[in-house]
Amino acid sequence: VSFQPGLNMRTPTKAVSSENRANSLRTHETPAVNIATSQVELIRRWITSFFNLDTDLTVIKSQVQIGQTIQYEASRNKSTNITENFFRLIPESSPLLGRHFRSCAVVGNSGILLGSRCGPQIDSADFVFRCNLPAIEGFEEDVGTKANFTTMNPSVLPHDYDGYINTTSVQDRFVKRLRLLHDQILHIPAFVTVNGREHVEFANRMILEHHLPMKLSYAPSDANKKMKMLWGSSEFHTKRPSTGNILYVLATCLCDQVHLYGFYPFDKDEKGRDIKYHYFGELKNSTRNHNMTEEYRAFQRLHQRKALVLHTEPCD
Ligand code: CTP
Repeated sequence: VSFQPGLNMRTPTKAVSSENRANSLRTHETPAVNIATSQVELIRRWITSFFNLDTDLTVIKSQVQIGQTIQYEASRNKSTNITENFFRLIPESSPLLGRHFRSCAVVGNSGILLGSRCGPQIDSADFVFRCNLPAIEGFEEDVGTKANFTTMNPSVLPHDYDGYINTTSVQDRFVKRLRLLHDQILHIPAFVTVNGREHVEFANRMILEHHLPMKLSYAPSDANKKMKMLWGSSEFHTKRPSTGNILYVLATCLCDQVHLYGFYPFDKDEKGRDIKYHYFGELKNSTRNHNMTEEYRAFQRLHQRKALVLHTEPCD
């Protein structure tokens, strides 16, 4: 099934700086609810022809057994072994099976959120998605606290919890962060690269040892391929879809209204002010694997069509 979310969109013929590009694509007005049900439904139909939320979100127990090997998506000829710990955490069924929500917020990690005061608006959504176990404490006013579905790339551990293997205080900080998920969903793309193996094993061990109550979801190894095929059928050339992009897709399957916050892959705002790549920490631009300006262009187009609301302005 081919879908052209914005047939009339002309791609720029000459290269533009990321700053200019941001200006030309920036959303000026983002009313609280400006969504057309028919548009959401149309996009959902396009998505579900590539991705089935009920069966493609996570590996489930009936599909695996202890000792089974699963091939990594991006590491040639490398596979991981389903250990006993791993098996214990793999869900019996998708934690989103049969769920549906009126309004969902998908929160990306852009520094555009700093000073936005969007926290209360984000928390007022019925279901909130967050990317890569982001910092919450200290940013509540801008990003809120609610988290119903949080992803964690295995690389979050070496990046944000450096030294976790030998340092108890770092391990404690990680467990403390996981506790903020309460009994909600943690989604780990565990079968992408072999480099993530020890990090996934560690996260699994901490969850079990500390009896953390969250529900787990582990993306199957063909999940990225499906997302790539989805966007490949559109006019948007997104390369490898980013986590935020994937969460947008999940939200459209699940929700009547999708609101995006913290999606802004540019280093200047409209007034020329510097925008940090992440609202937390000191990470510099890491868009190498993705084409986030193209993803932003897609979101902008979908916003114009009222299939989502892209929030890039302060909320008050
Ligand atoms: N994002 C954005 N603009 C930024 C930073 C992030 O739009 N300046 C969105 C992207 O969709 C990104 C998501 O927020 O996927 C989460 O950010 P981050 O944790 O930085 O994701 P990545 O490092 O790109 O990792 P991944 O490969 O998981 O997408």
